Amino acid sequence: MSTEKTIRRITTKSLELMKKKGKKIAALTAYDFITARILDQAGIDFLLVGDSLANVFQGNETTLPVTMDEMIYHTKAVTKGVNRAMVVVDMPFMSYQLSVNEGFRNAGRIMKETSAGAVKIEGGKRVAETIKEITAAGIPVMAHVGLTPQSINQFGSYRERGKTEEEAKEIFEDAITVEKAGAFAVVLEKIPAKLANKITKALTIPTIGIGAGIYCDGQILVTADLLGLYVEFQPRFVRKYANLAHEIENSIQNYISDVKEKSFPSKAESY
Ligand code: KIV
Repeated sequence: MSTEKTIRRITTKSLELMKKKGKKIAALTAYDFITARILDQAGIDFLLVGDSLANVFQGNETTLPVTMDEMIYHTKAVTKGVNRAMVVVDMPFMSYQLSVNEGFRNAGRIMKETSAGAVKIEGGKRVAETIKEITAAGIPVMAHVGLTPQSINQFGSYRERGKTEEEAKEIFEDAITVEKAGAFAVVLEKIPAKLANKITKALTIPTIGIGAGIYCDGQILVTADLLGLYVEFQPRFVRKYANLAHEIENSIQNYISDVKEKSFPSKAESY
């Protein structure tokens, strides 16, 4: 008889149940195997291979340059590190905007070539048809409304969305539409807490907030922000749980001086 404990994987159903039971969902981004493994072992509910890897990993100013091949490459590494968490993959800019068919084909490619559990698409009403087609093929879709970084050139800045009555109405309608189209969850990015509360109450699918206040069913952050690795970026909605940039720099300086002063390697560290 095996004594190994079976690990239950998180699925869209688990997230739906968590909302029903009033249990909060905790999510983070991951772009590589080691980080994914640590976050999974820590008990994270889902990992997003976010297109924010264009900023954090590749050093770009926006999320626009990251490609399908690059998203697939990173997702393959992430899924290898995960036993329990659900892995959601951002569909990159221009992988679904061209046509419903193109989005459908690319979502299928992500699911075929990685072991991810779902894809994420930015936009509300304008991507409703794409969400419908993809979910009809058995691929779970997480939607993303409010501040959608792939539209930065249209927005002109990363400021909070939904502050005016008109914008709030638009975002509310977007959220309702993506649920109707079949999305299993929706990310609400940088919108007023009051609006996020109204959306969370109106939807049966979980809302995952980032800069959207306390009422969402779950929260997501970019892991590098929470760990204090990305020091230039410190918006109000990020809580820093560590100062790793500082710790890494200190460790590296210690290593450099040990090498220079000939105290590393020691006899015990030699063969
Ligand atoms: O790409 C990303 O990291 C995201 C989160 C900010 C939700 O979309």
